[in-house]
Amino acid sequence: MRIVVLVSGGGTNLQAIIDRIKDNTITNTEIAEVVSNNPNAYALTRAKDNGISGKCISPKDFDSRDEFNKALVDEMDRINPDLIVLAGFLVNIPAEMVKKYTRKIINIHPSLIPAFCGKGFYGLKVHEGALERGVKITGATVHFVDEGTDTGPIILQKAVEVLDGDTPKILQKRVMEQAEWVILPQAIDMIANGRI
Ligand code: GRF
Repeated sequence: MRIVVLVSGGGTNLQAIIDRIKDNTITNTEIAEVVSNNPNAYALTRAKDNGISGKCISPKDFDSRDEFNKALVDEMDRINPDLIVLAGFLVNIPAEMVKKYTRKIINIHPSLIPAFCGKGFYGLKVHEGALERGVKITGATVHFVDEGTDTGPIILQKAVEVLDGDTPKILQKRVMEQAEWVILPQAIDMIANGRI
């Protein structure tokens, strides 16, 4: 299975996928390309360091959002991946891409959907919401992407304890280490081996 990984930031989820492919936790899978909307995303450095083709397609390089959307879809069509993985990708996926790649786009969200998700809940804001509400358990979710935000069918979830004294950053790190970096590779391996 050939996958494209879409990233915007540090790329720790991308790194987890790279490492799990290397140690054969993920089988039948190769990363065909990493695409970022952010030229400075460290995720692109991780791709380069691992001999994986990296490309930046940024809305800033286009006169309109429509032209950016077209460029992104054209790139997906050029690579023609079996699966598109959103790993901390902070740009809305064009409706055309969702339609063309139905059930072929998955996303990792750092909460137990339907909690703390949807518009405005991304990155640290997710964990700020969890701490504000005082939940004792949070976690991460891998789901198929549909036309909504964090609304597609859920594939895997993993719970993580919220501990006294947690700050948003401490909680984010625990959710990434104990949940995101575990269930995203797991979901990719399940799809690559026909277990979904
Ligand atoms: C993090 O907030 C993570 O929880 C979410 O995307 C953001 C960036 O992750 N999934 P990464 O380090 O770029 O994979």
